[in-house]
Amino acid sequence: MKVLVTGATGFTGKALVRRLIDDGHRVVALDYKEGYKTDEIRGWGAEVVIGSVTDRAIVDSCMDSVEVVQHLAAAFREMNVPDSYYDEVNVGGTRTVLEAAHAHGVRKLIYCSTCGVHGNVENPPADEDAPIKPADYYQRTKYQAEPIVAEFTSRGLNTTTVRPAAIYGPGDPERFFLIFKRVARGWFPMYGNGKTLYHPVYIDNLVDALVLAMDDNRGNGRAFLIADEEYVEIEDLVKRVARAMNREVRIPHFPVLPLVAAGHVCEKLWRPFGVAPPIFPRRVDWYRQNRAFNIDRARRELGYQPKVGLDDGLRRTYEWYRREGFVA
Ligand SMILES: NC(=O)c1ccc[n+]([C@@H]2O[C@H](COP(=O)([O-])OP(=O)(O)OC[C@H]3O[C@@H](n4cnc5c(N)ncnc54)[C@H](OP(=O)(O)O)[C@@H]3O)[C@@H](O)[C@H]2O)c1
Repeated sequence: MKVLVTGATGFTGKALVRRLIDDGHRVVALDYKEGYKTDEIRGWGAEVVIGSVTDRAIVDSCMDSVEVVQHLAAAFREMNVPDSYYDEVNVGGTRTVLEAAHAHGVRKLIYCSTCGVHGNVENPPADEDAPIKPADYYQRTKYQAEPIVAEFTSRGLNTTTVRPAAIYGPGDPERFFLIFKRVARGWFPMYGNGKTLYHPVYIDNLVDALVLAMDDNRGNGRAFLIADEEYVEIEDLVKRVARAMNREVRIPHFPVLPLVAAGHVCEKLWRPFGVAPPIFPRRVDWYRQNRAFNIDRARRELGYQPKVGLDDGLRRTYEWYRREGFVA
């Protein structure tokens, strides 16, 4: 099968491209910038196109004989851009990819949304019918694209929307790395009571779900939360990272409200300089927003079963950080 992956050099994109090629598919990889990662996936056999998902001509140029589109590209952690940039890429770009896929007779499109569309989960665990209340502009724009996907479903394009929980695993130099880095120092400041719920998804488990969704007899016109078997309190997560690293960690507690205020101030102060502030509201939300999900729909309708458990996933991730020299 020929598959177009947008955002193909991102954390998830690269893992998906690897799996698709290993499974014998041909892959067209669309991504924004040339770099060592584009060379890497070319080396695996992917055909790489450089350009933006907002550029219809570029997107059209990727669609020749494509049967399935995996739309993963997103503005995600860009700090030095106006909020409208998130609209352009996450909403406008998704519409462009859908229009091109529809026009070229693509068999199926998988849209990678986020569990963040549910915001802070008040009655955990949340399922797909839980209230939609995105908490920031990134999450809002990810959700705004979902009805556009539905519009194209009603126009005859097979689609599935996937809402991943917090993705982690080998290949991710950013998100979970902060936890590993602090644990490596032996001291992890915990803002708030540490009982906030957090639901990870190991990268290979997510890739399993994305591959299952390519089947046009599964999950058409449906949205699926994709997460690991288990969700945990964040203090427990830190302790389990420490166990995976075979380290001792102290976890002193501090009030969270001053950090919330500091997050907002830092974001405003840093923005004109075009660099990421040390703390910003989305990062602070980690201490405050419950993320815990029910994945029964994905089990039932996609045949999804998370194979890698949390402790195993954390160990594999630590091994990767060590091998790559991120932590000792
Ligand atoms: N990470 C998580 O915990 C998480 C959780 C839920 C949902 N998601 C969603 O899952 C998907 C993959 O996430 P990820 O963590 O793998 O993200 P990522 O590492 O940031 O990858 C996103 C990719 O999209 C590319 N991209 C950005 N703007 C583009 C544009 N205009 N045109 C073409 N490519 C563009 C980026 O390219 P450059 O790097 O060159 O800018 C990057 O390669 C995203 O849709 C994200 O919203 C992520």
